[in-house]
Amino acid sequence: MEIFKTISELQQSLKADRDKGLLIGFVPTMGALHKGHLSLVEQAAKENDRVVVSIFVNPTQFNDPNDLKNYPRNLDADAGLLSTVVCDYIFVPSVTEIYPDSDTREFDFGTLETVMEGHFRPGHFNGVAQVVSKLFSIVMPDRAYFGLKDFQQYSIIKNLKEKLHLPVNLVACETVREDDGLALSSRNKLLTPEHRIVVPQIYRILKEARADATNFTPHEVKTRVIGKIDSLGLLKTEYFEIVDELTLQSVTDWNQKGTKVGCIAVFAGSVRLIDNIVFDK
Ligand code: PAJ
Repeated sequence: MEIFKTISELQQSLKADRDKGLLIGFVPTMGALHKGHLSLVEQAAKENDRVVVSIFVNPTQFNDPNDLKNYPRNLDADAGLLSTVVCDYIFVPSVTEIYPDSDTREFDFGTLETVMEGHFRPGHFNGVAQVVSKLFSIVMPDRAYFGLKDFQQYSIIKNLKEKLHLPVNLVACETVREDDGLALSSRNKLLTPEHRIVVPQIYRILKEARADATNFTPHEVKTRVIGKIDSLGLLKTEYFEIVDELTLQSVTDWNQKGTKVGCIAVFAGSVRLIDNIVFDK
């Protein structure tokens, strides 16, 4: 496993690999790695000859300066975890390496970015698109791996690939959870012990919502989820939406065609967690 800080060092190794006809799998991350990230790396290792993991806390996607400041960073711990799986290159660029000039590009994702995360975190997906498009140009991977925990992010990246005609295959990976159901997230480290006890209720309530779909309308399911979470006292729902998998627009009738996904954002104190569940109706 090699650690590169500069684009030129990374590209030198990748060029040699590509010249040998090796397939490159890429996992972009912001570090503070956990088993969710590792599951993406493991899948990349199964499907490619070389695996690149980038660790870059991308400033342009943080709409809240405190969130950027408090985002956990620990390269030694991350490298230690990556040494337990197959990872060939870790790319850890500085901010000026990625943004030698400020990135003024404005992407238009239409209604995909006006809902949910896009609505509550203005500018977030533009920042994600800026960094992911740059990382794709740097790494030029054959395949890139993303987690479905960030369901809307995956939709945005699929759209970005189409918009920019990027020659990369995107691979979506299932959400990895703790035994108690909590979706793994780098932000879980920031939870107080009191909040940590209550946050598994989020996924439990999402599963109840899926069962409720036989007896209640989408609107009623939505109201019940928000009511249950907020009545726990320690959590505050920012949004819960049941949306069409492809358009991300709210579902009003279970008979609408297509897969439906329930997406939620919850504050546990100042820590913001997101999760989602597929409705099999
Ligand atoms: P980060 O939050 O570090 O996540 C990196 C990748 O890991 C994302 O594709 C995310 O969906 C996936 N992931 C996170 N938690 C997961 C879990 N519990 N199970 C499965 N996959 C999980 O998402 C980002 O970074 C950034 O926005 C990035 C795409 C790197 C651009 O800066």
